[in-house]
Amino acid sequence: MELQIGGVSAISLTKTYGTPLYVYDKQIILKKIQELKEAFPYARICYALKANSNIYLLKLIAQQGLGADCSNKIELELAEYAGFNLKESIFTAVNPSDEDLVKALQTGAMMNLDDLSIFYRLQKFGLPKKISFRINPGFGAGKFPGIVVGGKDVKFGMSEERAKQAYCAAKEAGIQEFGIHMMTGSCVLEESYFEELLKSIQSIAENFSQELNIHFEHINLGGGLGVPYEPEEVPLNLKRLGERIQKIYNTKSILMLEPGRYVVAESGMLLTTVNTIKNNFIGVDAGMTNLIRPALYGAYHSIVLANDLQAPKTESLMIVGPVCESTDCFAKDRPMPKIKEGNILAIQVAGAYSFAMSSQYNGRLRPSEVLLDNGLHKLIRKRETIIDLIQYEQL
Ligand code: LLP
Repeated sequence: MELQIGGVSAISLTKTYGTPLYVYDKQIILKKIQELKEAFPYARICYALKANSNIYLLKLIAQQGLGADCSNKIELELAEYAGFNLKESIFTAVNPSDEDLVKALQTGAMMNLDDLSIFYRLQKFGLPKKISFRINPGFGAGKFPGIVVGGKDVKFGMSEERAKQAYCAAKEAGIQEFGIHMMTGSCVLEESYFEELLKSIQSIAENFSQELNIHFEHINLGGGLGVPYEPEEVPLNLKRLGERIQKIYNTKSILMLEPGRYVVAESGMLLTTVNTIKNNFIGVDAGMTNLIRPALYGAYHSIVLANDLQAPKTESLMIVGPVCESTDCFAKDRPMPKIKEGNILAIQVAGAYSFAMSSQYNGRLRPSEVLLDNGLHKLIRKRETIIDLIQYEQL
């Protein structure tokens, strides 16, 4: 049996659009958003653009009523263009430029600052109506060390002590509406972690409220909701997580979430053609420039033979790309069926942090992106050409 995506044969898509090819199933994105809304009816959900910022997908997500989580001026502009309500959105930047701050001020997005020094810098340009600060509670989580964003030796957020000074400064400057933010990791599949995070942020918010006599309109748990990539991983039971969180949630503030991966990861696949077979090295036309996660974090992505899903896994193969780096390897010693030149492989769970982290290294033009919707397919980004590589250079 051939692989289908969104009611269409993956092989036929590669014939129409060529490879490498990113394909996304619209129905899966809608299902994920619905799951989030049903599990957290009491929360405000802002999609983290960094996971995938294709404009067509952003418009789709904005139409579902989600806010946006933006990390710089350009992401704010993308969110605006896609139709997100920026007044219901968040700006969380770790090291913003002046331009980022000015743009965020203009949009009215909730400004979530990473340090007190940034608040002082912001004051040169104006004061927002409300402000939030990002706390590093001293612990972190995350599937790989590279995506743990809380704890010792990470650059994100500030200590509780410093955050207290920041709220004091904001109050003295005349700000009356406050939020508080904590995100310490990405791709987390343990429900208890999110409970710990909420307990921790609520207890800090409670202390600050009393000591500084301020009220928090928003508490923000950031992103981090994981999805399974590996066969033995158990998906989050979002409904149960929503209930567990609700039990702890003291409802004194609006709860905010900033999922990126959860919304888009499982909707996407990267389709690639086998060009070269050399011993147990299977050379495909996608590379680390299209999906860097295996090279960067050692991430596992399931890979299937799109031509025949039932073929027995009799081989142990290295699936490698065409880039001149030894890390350009999608899978090492992976049990796979017998593979022939011209076969199509589908690298799965590639909707988040795949295209978004792509590059043109090695003269690699970015592939097309196609959206599937119940048997229909639509090109949502054209394959790049050499013009995209050189258009800003002096010829
Ligand atoms: N909010 C903030 C402030 C963030 O920094 C992030 C992600 C998110 C929300 C969304 O997190 P998510 O729900 O997607 O876990 N490139 C890595 C992931 C890095 C995440 C960075 N921050 C990967 O491919 O796994």
